[in-house]
Amino acid sequence: MVSARAAQVGPQILVASNRGPVSYAFEADGSLTPRRGGGGLVSGLSAIGSEADTLWVCSALGDGDREAVRRGVGEAGVRMLDIEASVHAAAYNGIANSVLWFVHHMLYQTPLEPVFDAEFRREWGAYEAYNRAFAAALAEEAAEGASVMVQDYHLALVPGMLRELRPDLRIGHFSHTPWAPPEYFRMLPDDVARQLLRGMLGADRLGFLTHRWADAFTRCCEDAVGGLGTTRVGVHGLGADAEFLRRRAHEPDVDERLVALREQIGAGRKTIVRVDRTELSKNIVRGLLAYRQLLLDHPEWRERVVHVAFAYPSRQDLAVYRDYTAEVARTAEEINSTFGTPGWTPVILHVKDDFARSLAAYRLADVALVNPIRDGMNLVAKEVPVVSDEGCALVLSREAGAWEELREDAVCVNPYDVMGTAAGLFAALSMSPGERSDRSKRLAAAATALPPQRWFLDQLGALREA
Ligand code: F6P
Repeated sequence: MVSARAAQVGPQILVASNRGPVSYAFEADGSLTPRRGGGGLVSGLSAIGSEADTLWVCSALGDGDREAVRRGVGEAGVRMLDIEASVHAAAYNGIANSVLWFVHHMLYQTPLEPVFDAEFRREWGAYEAYNRAFAAALAEEAAEGASVMVQDYHLALVPGMLRELRPDLRIGHFSHTPWAPPEYFRMLPDDVARQLLRGMLGADRLGFLTHRWADAFTRCCEDAVGGLGTTRVGVHGLGADAEFLRRRAHEPDVDERLVALREQIGAGRKTIVRVDRTELSKNIVRGLLAYRQLLLDHPEWRERVVHVAFAYPSRQDLAVYRDYTAEVARTAEEINSTFGTPGWTPVILHVKDDFARSLAAYRLADVALVNPIRDGMNLVAKEVPVVSDEGCALVLSREAGAWEELREDAVCVNPYDVMGTAAGLFAALSMSPGERSDRSKRLAAAATALPPQRWFLDQLGALREA
């Protein structure tokens, strides 16, 4: 399938992911403006230096992206695939976000779900087609012997499909999510479970964020397909990008927001900060209930603490996400109407995504609350101690991937245990300034042990050796 031209001049390093590093928005005059995204992968790839030898294959996500593909507007080093909108929706919303995300984060309310019916089979067909489109594009573009780094649960079938098209390539796959234990994974129909595992095992090397997720994957393979075969498995715990964060957190727009937030919070009060996308796995509602419990158990903290909760919209095409977002707002309002006083708003909830304001909140946080019911890593847990002005205590769920690296200096909680989380918040608020500052420094050191550039280069190196 490799074209003669690609074999000679095609890229040597390819990345494939559903969401790419750029997206396009329509302007009033019909022109298209590109918006560059951030994240570990973008800064990781920047470690390569020259873009000449790299290609990022991603999917067009909105109308702006689709139009950009049609007009041939594009960024160097990026190929966006215009996969039919209905196929993409069924693959992304139907399978990736409503099935695979739910399985790996163990989110189902099992008395009634999941239901693997005819509609599921139709969506599964779309997921296969969407994966095939990626495999075909990668096969067409890659230079002979190139390294291809496939990302995440959206593209679990790509390694196997690509291996058939281009046996000469080195293929890696990285999971940014947890992996389900076999007892949960086997909820999937047997043929689908096997297809997913065999798809992944088409890779030379698979990467996971923690040993826990890597072990779970290995056990699923032993359970369903007789083991890993020749595929190697490695752990790469993506860390925070300290250099970027510290610089960005002191730019004027962040300073402005810091002043505004301080005013909203009120002088002399402590702050418990959380910043999340509003995903079901982030456990925002139980976090609010734990804060409510803290105010009940320790009335001496009323008027003296504010919970700053940023819950940014995510996957709003899905009703269950919209309902969850509404429940977050309802719970916050309930706390404010029960405990609030004319001069004190116990919960400040913001739902409009604003990165500069998130950084401002990181800087002033006395306590960071990170309590997901399950999370691949959770970079917020790593970013807050890095950016914090005076050191902050971290209340951290033992179900977050970051727990493996940060548990020594965090206040660790069971995310389902609201009383226990309230006690954790109390312990964090009561920590002496000296202890808080010492722990925060150690947390920042652990959080930055593997910066994105090294995270990416390590994987590339290991794939080349595999
Ligand atoms: O945070 C885990 C993760 O899988 C990322 O790797 C990925 O970018 C994101 O979730 C997918 O989210 P979205 O559906 O908004 O693209």
